[in-house]
Amino acid sequence: MIDYDRFLSDYAKSVRASDIRELLKVVERGGVISFAGGLPDPNTFPKEEIAQIAMEVIIKHGEKALQYGPTRGSAYFLEAVREFSKMNGIPVRENEGIIATVGSQQSLYLVGKTLANPGDYIVTEEPTYLGAIQAFRSSGVRFLTVPIDEDGMRTDKLEEVLKEAVSEGIKIKYIYTIPTCHNPAGTTMPMERRKHLLELAEQYNILVIEDDPYSYITFEEREVKPLKAMDESGRVIYLSTLSKILAPGIRLGWAIGPEPIVAKMELVKQGMDLHTPTLTQYIAAEILKRGIIDRNIPKIKRIYKEKRDAMLRALEQYMPEGVKWTKPIGGLFIWVWLPEKINARKLLNKAIENGVVFVPGDSFFPNGGGKNTMRLNFSYPSPEEIEEGIKRLAKTIKEML
Ligand SMILES: Cc1ncc(COP(=O)(O)O)c(C=O)c1O
Repeated sequence: MIDYDRFLSDYAKSVRASDIRELLKVVERGGVISFAGGLPDPNTFPKEEIAQIAMEVIIKHGEKALQYGPTRGSAYFLEAVREFSKMNGIPVRENEGIIATVGSQQSLYLVGKTLANPGDYIVTEEPTYLGAIQAFRSSGVRFLTVPIDEDGMRTDKLEEVLKEAVSEGIKIKYIYTIPTCHNPAGTTMPMERRKHLLELAEQYNILVIEDDPYSYITFEEREVKPLKAMDESGRVIYLSTLSKILAPGIRLGWAIGPEPIVAKMELVKQGMDLHTPTLTQYIAAEILKRGIIDRNIPKIKRIYKEKRDAMLRALEQYMPEGVKWTKPIGGLFIWVWLPEKINARKLLNKAIENGVVFVPGDSFFPNGGGKNTMRLNFSYPSPEEIEEGIKRLAKTIKEML
């Protein structure tokens, strides 16, 4: 028997399976209501249109759509995304570039590799997106974290973190943030905090990575301008994706940022996969150009608003005193603070027995903490499952109090 472990890199030895993937295995056994994944509702996928367009694209543009393409992305797709982004308040400005990626997840990996060396410090919210922790960890960075409240990142605390870093001679490479409909927290930063964050980035001369899969699917009237739309000095690298407004299986995202940075991301990507699949770019370009996404968004908002409302109603009705949660204006997630004495991992073991699962919040804390928190997904289960699942969860919490 060969001992394969001794052939592994230190990095490969250090990587662990994500909790969420492990939980999905439990759910597959059936009878369990899952608030664990982050899956979009398949009823939001415009299947017929995608099928029709896929056939047309292959027949009409097959010579190009089935061929190798540029690392930056196919001109046809980039042009369609530029237009979509401009219509949503984020034009690609002079001195800026855009790159097509295999979902935002690849953008995170590329930008992480492009900006930081092993041992460098970066700043994230606490909690933050698990996939970003994994992507950034692969470049060996150290995390400084900023707590959140119901309004997202506490920029007063960010200021403290930055000040302290300076006093300790620590150079921060970038601030990573999800300002709108945060994953996992479901929070949205108000305009004053957004301004404050950008002022601090300016004052301390730091780049900002804005991860924005969700601002297209907000369903409350609230002023939410992406940081990128307020970025006067070219400090923000903006990431978005078709995963939540079309379908995640298409695996298409994009990054917009200063051209010198995007040019380097392109070179990093070249060594990874040469380019994003041409065929899906052509299909997505047609979908964007024909306005299918613009027409699909109101339907997505309607479906998710109904589900969010069902979850908020059920939380209100069933949760015992001492449990608090965020009230998202969009996106896919609600964040829950349990009473201090409840450990969400222990709660999960009991919850599985009671037929409901969630993701323990500490998974989203890069430096530990968050033992009494959890993330609930409302986009995938039906409103009926949401009500029943929250009832089961509340019962489990009461058993532990
Ligand atoms: C905040 C955030 N960033 C990035 C991603 C990755 O999305 P994609 O499917 O585009 O890779 C997700 C997916 O859930 C997310 O929530």
